[in-house]
Amino acid sequence: MSRIETLLSKMTLREKLGQLNMVASGYAVTGPLLGGDSPDAIRSGDIGNLLNMVGVDHVNEVQRIAVEESRLGIPLLLGFDVIHGHKTAFPVPLAEAAMFDRAAWARTARIAAVEAWNDGLALTFAPMIDVSRDLRWGRIVESAGEDSWLNAEMAIAKVKGFQGSDLSAIGSIAATAKHFCAYGAPVAGREYASVDISDRALHEIYLPPFEAAVKAGVAAIMPAFNSLAGMPMTAHEPLLKGWLRDKLGFDGVIISDYNAVAELLNHGVAGDLAEAAALSLRAGVDIDMVSNAYRKHLPEALSRGLVTMAEIDACVRRVLALKERLGLFDQPYRRGTAPLAAMAGNIDHHEVARDAARKSCVLLTNYNEALPLTRTERIALIGPLADAQADMRGPWGGASVAEDSVTLRTSLGKVATVVAQAEGVKINSDDTSGIATAVEAARIADTVVLCLGETAPMSGEAASRAHPELPGKQRELAEAILALGKKVVVVLFAGRPLTLPWLFHKASAVLMAWWPGEQAGPAIGDLLMGQESPSGRLPVSWPDAVGQAPLYYEQYPTGRPFNPNDHYTSKYIDAPNAPAFPFGHGLTYGAFSLSGLKVSKAVFGPDDTIEVSATVTNTGKRAAQETVFLFTHDLVASLSRPLLELRGFARISLDPGQSGTVTIALAARDLAFPGRDLQPVLEAGDFEIKLGSSARRSQLLNARVTLKL
Ligand code: IFM
Repeated sequence: MSRIETLLSKMTLREKLGQLNMVASGYAVTGPLLGGDSPDAIRSGDIGNLLNMVGVDHVNEVQRIAVEESRLGIPLLLGFDVIHGHKTAFPVPLAEAAMFDRAAWARTARIAAVEAWNDGLALTFAPMIDVSRDLRWGRIVESAGEDSWLNAEMAIAKVKGFQGSDLSAIGSIAATAKHFCAYGAPVAGREYASVDISDRALHEIYLPPFEAAVKAGVAAIMPAFNSLAGMPMTAHEPLLKGWLRDKLGFDGVIISDYNAVAELLNHGVAGDLAEAAALSLRAGVDIDMVSNAYRKHLPEALSRGLVTMAEIDACVRRVLALKERLGLFDQPYRRGTAPLAAMAGNIDHHEVARDAARKSCVLLTNYNEALPLTRTERIALIGPLADAQADMRGPWGGASVAEDSVTLRTSLGKVATVVAQAEGVKINSDDTSGIATAVEAARIADTVVLCLGETAPMSGEAASRAHPELPGKQRELAEAILALGKKVVVVLFAGRPLTLPWLFHKASAVLMAWWPGEQAGPAIGDLLMGQESPSGRLPVSWPDAVGQAPLYYEQYPTGRPFNPNDHYTSKYIDAPNAPAFPFGHGLTYGAFSLSGLKVSKAVFGPDDTIEVSATVTNTGKRAAQETVFLFTHDLVASLSRPLLELRGFARISLDPGQSGTVTIALAARDLAFPGRDLQPVLEAGDFEIKLGSSARRSQLLNARVTLKL
């Protein structure tokens, strides 16, 4: 008999339910705290899994209790939100998405995994792959943005980075794809609100990143807090059991979100906790995160006939199997024993953080080549985010500490001539008394670097905003500085796009830095001073007005496309249809032209892969990197198809005057879509192939190809 079956045959119901129970450890000043009777509960087998305990000494102590003092010696599974770095804070996921660089996505996940493993952890609640099209929703910061295909690509890279090829290897931790499913589409962008989307959107937009994660071998999945068309995801049997387990064959662990099992009562689908626990377990949720509904109420559910022992056993088997795959049975104290540097291939984690931060910043505007700055320009560094150490880490700082973040205030003076500094205003205050001092500081400079945006907690979980603009009195500060008529370079820090049309028109340049992580200052300094050209590209369409939300490039055609000469066409009467900046937008210090679009086969079959290529020339004065996107459009199909669908990207670095070729492969099967019955269908006919530097349709190169079946 296998180890798991042997164990299962010996387990009491109480011990089984302990394996399905995850509790949270608290924090004390000196480290994590396992409260109350928890050590005893580990001893008795009531706790099989823990979240939020970090530090190998603490972990080994609780692990010792589980392994040496509980009856069956089953090791604990310890999980933590390792979202964008662990000790080393990397850029937030939305910023990382802007890198459009699969190797870089995997590299930061690997380093985070190595650091987390070294800290005693075995499981992360990442990657978050919720397609996010609404800037009001705070958790847009944790996703790869608006595009389903891009979220899927990032999911694959992140799973690979966290898990490596062997979950039991040194430095590998189990990944959790979350939040399943459609959490990114809450009604009106309001956190935790219900989701009501079409089956088509579900199958075409929201499910594919999860399918990609499962195919990449993700170890765990976390259902979302929301209900979907009336059915809470924590109890969504058709999707959890039917789609994930039965259709995709996912045999990993499903872990509820925090207290979500008990919240089935608030959703109004369970009358008591026994019912809630039964609904969730039967839907396929193996581990109950912190609600204690499984541990306390499944015995009653069992006696009421709401669940069977076979269903409980199936969940226990999956949890034990994950612990086995992680090597926890064989080497429960192994974590923390390998030298950190060697584990990630001797790369300097801080250098990787700096590189990722540089690559993820997006240059939104740059009038009259305001950037890069020169060494002799006299700079005033102004604004509430010039020295905000804690904010640089973003809303999921993990185990990083604010003191490790380097701000522009600390670093810019080392590479530029900074003659004055002033905060001006605080973000969370209406006090404008500091503006006059900031204006005086600006007066003695040639150029102002103005650091504006949100505080980190203004994005992330439970941080929806109805007014995604500059909070507090930052606009007053900016207007006062802009009124001086000097060169004003704005560095924007935020976890989402902000609607600032007035600023984009007036500032000399705007660099979107998101939350760049611990190396914020040095990385932004590299870009401002031209040590490296900005290369980040927007993974979200940047709205002009909040009323445009949800805004995304992948629009379906309308019978009445916008025509400025015809009133009865699709438009707003008080805002443009177009975003302020399209998906894929991002300036560099070079200037690029794209020409000579070629397709390897004009007519191709269902098993073919064609190659799409074009020549890119840097017509500018500086070396830079261009990103080219491949979109497709199915011209006539059995269903109306989006005007653009992203199917590939390529990056190319070019010196001034240099040309190069980008080639992107497109498989015929990538042109399939969910048909009328929601099953994938590949339809013969003509497709437009479109190549360009963003999703601005008027600027794309076009070719037509024909698929013959
Ligand atoms: O992983 C998170 C999830 O994204 C939101 N609720 C809490 C979980 C555990 O911290």
